[in-house]
Amino acid sequence: MIAATRPLLAPGDILIDAGNADFHDTRRRAAELAGTGIHFVGMGVSGGEEGARHGPSMMVGGSEESWDRLRPMLAAIAARYQGEPCVDRLGPDGAGHFVKTVHNGIEYAEMQAIADLYGLLRFGAAWTPSEIGALFGRWNDGPLNAYLLGITAEILGHTDPQTGHPMVDVITDAAGQKGTGGWTVIEALRLGQSANMIEAAVGARNWSSEKAVRETAQARLGGARGAFEPEPAVLADAAMAARILGHAQGFDIFAAASGEYGWQLDGARIAEIWRAGCILRSALLDDIASAFRADPPHGRLILSDGFVARLHRTVPALRQVVSQAVAAGHAVPALAAGLQWYDSMRQGFGTAGLIQAQRDLFGHHGFQRLGRRGRHHGPWQD
Ligand code: 6PG
Repeated sequence: MIAATRPLLAPGDILIDAGNADFHDTRRRAAELAGTGIHFVGMGVSGGEEGARHGPSMMVGGSEESWDRLRPMLAAIAARYQGEPCVDRLGPDGAGHFVKTVHNGIEYAEMQAIADLYGLLRFGAAWTPSEIGALFGRWNDGPLNAYLLGITAEILGHTDPQTGHPMVDVITDAAGQKGTGGWTVIEALRLGQSANMIEAAVGARNWSSEKAVRETAQARLGGARGAFEPEPAVLADAAMAARILGHAQGFDIFAAASGEYGWQLDGARIAEIWRAGCILRSALLDDIASAFRADPPHGRLILSDGFVARLHRTVPALRQVVSQAVAAGHAVPALAAGLQWYDSMRQGFGTAGLIQAQRDLFGHHGFQRLGRRGRHHGPWQD
């Protein structure tokens, strides 16, 4: 498209890619046009059909000059949170598309966490979809308020006009995806991170698509799931803990990418422009923005004062839900992954010393010793 439109463009023109593009492509395209006077802007847009008609959230990557000119137009069409337009320039070249990709990664994690909770109530406690929808609807009136939770409550209340069955029961349980969740996971790994909740959500969609295999496995391996005793207040706290952990993993990727690509991504600003218009919009985002403004230790959301207190309060519920679910044979990939990450990160002294010893024994890779400089080896036999 750049090649096709190029003859029609003059220096000073701005070419905008507002799709869910891979930010590596955006960086390449911006580099291709650098020096021509044509500005290439990669703009992440979130909000679905409603956002398209009534104002989306927009994440802009491009030159400061192009942003100066686009700003009034984009501010005019953006969704507003308490009067503030949900749009900003987040950095040059691929920064906007990168932030949108991670937005979608967190979206996958949040959707799967909701699906995990739905599954427990549906298959472990035999609640009807409309009962679950009513519970989610009540949660949505409080601190758990979020667009994705609200639409789930609505979906679960619907009946299929053709059969009279709950709508969710007539939809093939094989989830689609267009790639952004997977890109987030791959990029996190490239940056030395692991967004395991997002990976769990991508993986769960992949497994869901193997429907024929799952049907055979149910017959051959047994699909029995035990009873799950639901305590709605505990489930609500678990949902909050999972939401915090999913977002925290996404925001950690921003910090890592800023170093790698020289973007200086501003976590507070990103949270602010996600407060309205986008699919991730929720009451939590305002708290996330405040947490980043207060400059948490190591730039990590889970270490900020407000979130430390919230995690202390809600993680025990997540632990209770996950352990009960696992013991009864329910799959809760997103909830369990979030908890595993949390439990790994809260140990100042873990098991990686053993991994280093194994590497050294079989490959003479060497290790660092606590309190000493240099590379060392163990007293293993040859
Ligand atoms: C948004 C959505 C939007 C789109 C995704 C869905 O922020 O408006 O994320 O970008 O709905 O492409 O992604 P999957 O098809 O991969 O689920």
